Amino acid sequence: MQILTALEPLRTALAALKSGDNSDRPPEQPMDRPVLALVPTMGALHEGHLTLVREAKARAVHVVVSIFVNPRQFGPNEDLATYPRQLEADAALLEAEGVDVLWAPTVEAIYPPGYATSVQVGGLDAVLCGAARPGHFDGVATVVTKLFNQVQPDIALFGEKDWQQLAIIRRMARDLDMTHPRAEHIIGVPTVREADGLAMSSRNKYLTAQERAAAPAMNRAMRAAAARIIAGEAVAGILADLTAEVLAAGFRVVDYADLRDAATLEDLANWDGSPARLLVAAHLGKARLIDNVAVVASQTC
Ligand code: PAF
Repeated sequence: MQILTALEPLRTALAALKSGDNSDRPPEQPMDRPVLALVPTMGALHEGHLTLVREAKARAVHVVVSIFVNPRQFGPNEDLATYPRQLEADAALLEAEGVDVLWAPTVEAIYPPGYATSVQVGGLDAVLCGAARPGHFDGVATVVTKLFNQVQPDIALFGEKDWQQLAIIRRMARDLDMTHPRAEHIIGVPTVREADGLAMSSRNKYLTAQERAAAPAMNRAMRAAAARIIAGEAVAGILADLTAEVLAAGFRVVDYADLRDAATLEDLANWDGSPARLLVAAHLGKARLIDNVAVVASQTC
């Protein structure tokens, strides 16, 4: 695995991968297999990230993983300074997964002096986490655009845990007619959970032992709420109960507990059976935890 931190060496390495193209394609794999997959991350890798990497390897000939703790997606009072950084350990994990290139750009490789451009996905960025974290999704959309342009992947993979982020990136790719990757080649991978249901997150490291024990209550309450929505109960009462349950479990503040259209993120006061998502963000100790579950006619996940 090559570990690269500057753009020119990255371009050289990617050109070599692409020209060797499908040379290491196992014979049973189809000719139209995507050549290059990108898995963008901020490092502090856990099983959730490694699941994205494995999915990328299953789908594409070559895999690039990026690790960049993007200052533009952190608010002034957020955890940029303390966000876990462990490049050596992350590199070892990625090497073991057979990743081709670890793209770990310096801040200057992403935002060189004089950098002035920002990407904003209107509307979708104003609700849910966007309301609680102003500017966050501008930072995400901007850095993901940079990473897409730098790596030019055929496909890119993101975790469904950040459902709003995934919806925004897909919309951005569609609105801007992106081709590397195309919107339909932005792949969402289901949330990986601890045995007790807690969604894996680099920020789970912030939880004390007592908070860690309380944390899965959020997902439990969400699953029960989703089942009640599917059973046809009124949504407003269910969301009020869900908020109360999360607070009773020891969370300090619930930023939101909403039922939203799965693609447009439109607020749903009632559920009409179309694909929807129940999304919650809540603070537990120093951590702000987010989670979402599907609300679809036949299942919750
Ligand atoms: O989900 C993340 O880790 C980040 O928001 C991303 C997509 C890598 C952009 O910095």
